[in-house]
Amino acid sequence: MTDTQPAAPKAPARSDEQAGQAANAAPPTGADWRHAFRDRVKDQLGVRGMISEYLIPVETNTFWYSLGGVLGIALVLEIVTGMLLALRYVPDAGRAYGITKTLLNEGGWSVVLNFHYWTAYVIFALVMVHMMRVFFSGGYRGAKKGLWQIGVALAGTVFLLSITGETLHWDERGLAVPWHMSEILGAVGLDKTLHYTHEDLLNVPKATNLLVPYYAMHVAILPILLLALIAMHYYLIKVKGISLPFWHKPSGRRAPFSTHIREWTIYSTIILGAILVVSFFHRAAGPEPQLLPTSEFYGSEEGPGGLGVVPTFPISWTHGMNRFVTIAFGMDPDIWGTVIGMVLITVALVAVPYLDRGGPYEPRNWNEALSLQRRGWAYLAIVVFWAVLIVGSVTNLITPIG
Ligand code: HEM
Repeated sequence: MTDTQPAAPKAPARSDEQAGQAANAAPPTGADWRHAFRDRVKDQLGVRGMISEYLIPVETNTFWYSLGGVLGIALVLEIVTGMLLALRYVPDAGRAYGITKTLLNEGGWSVVLNFHYWTAYVIFALVMVHMMRVFFSGGYRGAKKGLWQIGVALAGTVFLLSITGETLHWDERGLAVPWHMSEILGAVGLDKTLHYTHEDLLNVPKATNLLVPYYAMHVAILPILLLALIAMHYYLIKVKGISLPFWHKPSGRRAPFSTHIREWTIYSTIILGAILVVSFFHRAAGPEPQLLPTSEFYGSEEGPGGLGVVPTFPISWTHGMNRFVTIAFGMDPDIWGTVIGMVLITVALVAVPYLDRGGPYEPRNWNEALSLQRRGWAYLAIVVFWAVLIVGSVTNLITPIG
């Protein structure tokens, strides 16, 4: 002990009665040790303030207010399954298709890959539903405009993860993503400078150089960005406070956040449990990419779109928008459809909180929530957002080839 440390206080002497009680007390059970251990971990990690002592309105312990948490859990599982897949995947344009095809035919690995694939759809659907819940309850007003913008960045990151993930599968559908990227670069005159032409994509070593950036984005850059944005999103919700659902009468009662985590767990088990079951069913690998000599499309004059190979749902609106601008306005190259669609979607979402004229507080009833006088412009922005997704997806369904 150093001179500066105070002497430890002496423990008070125990009375005979106390000593007798201690001698008769039951020995600690496993449950006691577990509770003591849990309390110690909570103390050391300082999680009490975040869970058991963090009180939230009981009205938010409902399905619609639990979807953001289910989304977070789905994203964590997506990252875990992605880490497992990274143990087998190699971003080599000559081998990647064969690797994913092999994984899809191997017992355990096929479940991991299928779960990763189907959960991406669930994440997309949850982002949409969560965003609409936040929109209707006006949870972006006043001091929560920044929170909404972090949400927009999250939605964009999720979309980029879908696109880069689709590329890594490296079937003809996966090849379509860099194929369209070369068209975007061609439209601004950069494709030849950056060696990003269709010819480059049909040459295995050069295509490998173009596949690697998608790999780096999908397995490292975007997941790290996503986790940082989620941390920021949760922090802001805690600091700014959650809105109250106007369709419930406010009771003024509060409950520990642990009750909300229980809701997350229940809904996650139901939704992601169903996805796990679906993941046990076999899924085909898709057509081989045309750069491989064994592909049925080898030597084709057409790109993936011309061959009728269109993107899967969360991305399909991009191809549909390309078709739409060609058919409706004769635009060439058609990739402008994707560019225009993305700009419209982003501007519409970013603008929502600034177009809403309902004041700093959330709507308190259906009349206020549906008031076109106060929220008309914000509704228009949401209509533009959905119009791009719906027009693109429907056009893609009706006239996919092109
Ligand atoms: C992609 C991953 C996302 C995750 C993991 C996530 C998670 C959450 C969670 C857990 C909540 C608490 C309440 C609830 O669950 O309903 C919440 C609230 C909120 N989220 Fe998200 N969110 C995401 C995306 C988005 C998007 C795309 C937007 C909007 C563009 C958004 C905007 C907001 C806002 C403004 C709130 C506060 C709402 C209120 O006070 O009622 N979030 N988010």
